[in-house]
Amino acid sequence: MPLWKIPLFELELTDDDVIAVLRPLRNRWLTMGEETQRFESAFKEKTGARHAFAVSSGTAALHLALLALEIGPGDEVLLPSFTFVACANVIRAVGADPVFVDIAGETDWTISPEDLEAKITPRSRAVMVVHYAGFPCHMEAILATARRHNLAVIEDCAHAVISKQDGITCGCFGDAGCFSFFSNKNMTTGEGGMITTQQDALAEHLRLLRSHGMTSLTLDRYQGRANSYDVHTIGLNYRIDEIRSALGRSQLERLTRNLEIRNEIYQTYVEYLAPLDEITIPFLDRLEDVTGYHIFPIALMEGINRNQFIHALKEEGIQTSIHYPPIHRFQVYQEYLDGEDCQCPITESISARQVTLPFYPGMNAKDIQTVCEAVIRHARL
Ligand SMILES: Cc1ncc(COP(=O)(O)O)c(C=O)c1O
Repeated sequence: MPLWKIPLFELELTDDDVIAVLRPLRNRWLTMGEETQRFESAFKEKTGARHAFAVSSGTAALHLALLALEIGPGDEVLLPSFTFVACANVIRAVGADPVFVDIAGETDWTISPEDLEAKITPRSRAVMVVHYAGFPCHMEAILATARRHNLAVIEDCAHAVISKQDGITCGCFGDAGCFSFFSNKNMTTGEGGMITTQQDALAEHLRLLRSHGMTSLTLDRYQGRANSYDVHTIGLNYRIDEIRSALGRSQLERLTRNLEIRNEIYQTYVEYLAPLDEITIPFLDRLEDVTGYHIFPIALMEGINRNQFIHALKEEGIQTSIHYPPIHRFQVYQEYLDGEDCQCPITESISARQVTLPFYPGMNAKDIQTVCEAVIRHARL
């Protein structure tokens, strides 16, 4: 008996996906082979990226971006606190210092270009922007700031696979685009990710870093292109396997259609809930901007008890989540900040009131109505 009548998210796997993952098993080649090459080519074609490297997770992609840009101890990386903790963790993992930037406003939950500018110091080396819920950040302003201060730009596109702004796909604005194919993402490989770049030299560095800094892969040696290898940099094993690449390519083929369905569901939610004074739906003025929604986030009005609201929906079998608790409030980051106030007042306010509603392509009209009626009933309590 499932716990939820309407879960937060439901995985869509088709017969085509199942057939796809059998292919590498039947071909008896399981890692970094032709499936991965085809997956990367298809991803490049879909996004317009010049280079794309499939990796073992979105976190690996973010970590590789920092390593390839040679960011390390003494450097500061600016990022929103209103994001998944992996973003700050990888900055700490390379020995650099995360600097938390506020979001833009009550209804715009992407990084604030003004607060970004205000928090730049002589130690700033990069900014990591997050295209929250699929809404592109204010890239024109961010890129201008980055150019002025000589900052690298890393885009976290975990929510924004094939989201576009001014005709450019997220991941192609900055130095590197980092994608996650975790199970609940718009396309999935279970665990997995992709890193893209438009720059040839950075691409070469990423290629080496993904696989121990080695100049050839097992496949190259098997196919006779190399007999041995040298090691040119201190790399890691962030490779993906053929089973997940096959699944990724199969999922990618359906992505455009899936995004259209997501857009329809998003619009239906907005029609039901926009008139409700007790909640804020972010980005309502930017719906035209977006081609790939990932989640349906709202914020409750001040004074509504969020725990009670979440509990009331749970009682009706409706699962919700929170995107996100501010990173700077987590214990390990409180210890790191050691009493310093990181000044993200809008993040603090929204995070305390934020709730994410169920959102996935398999939702039907009745599901959306059930969720919305429950939200209206309980937000008015
Ligand atoms: C915004 C954001 N960044 C990074 C990640 C990390 O991706 P992964 O779980 O694939 O390591 C996620 C995934 O959950 C995410 O939502």
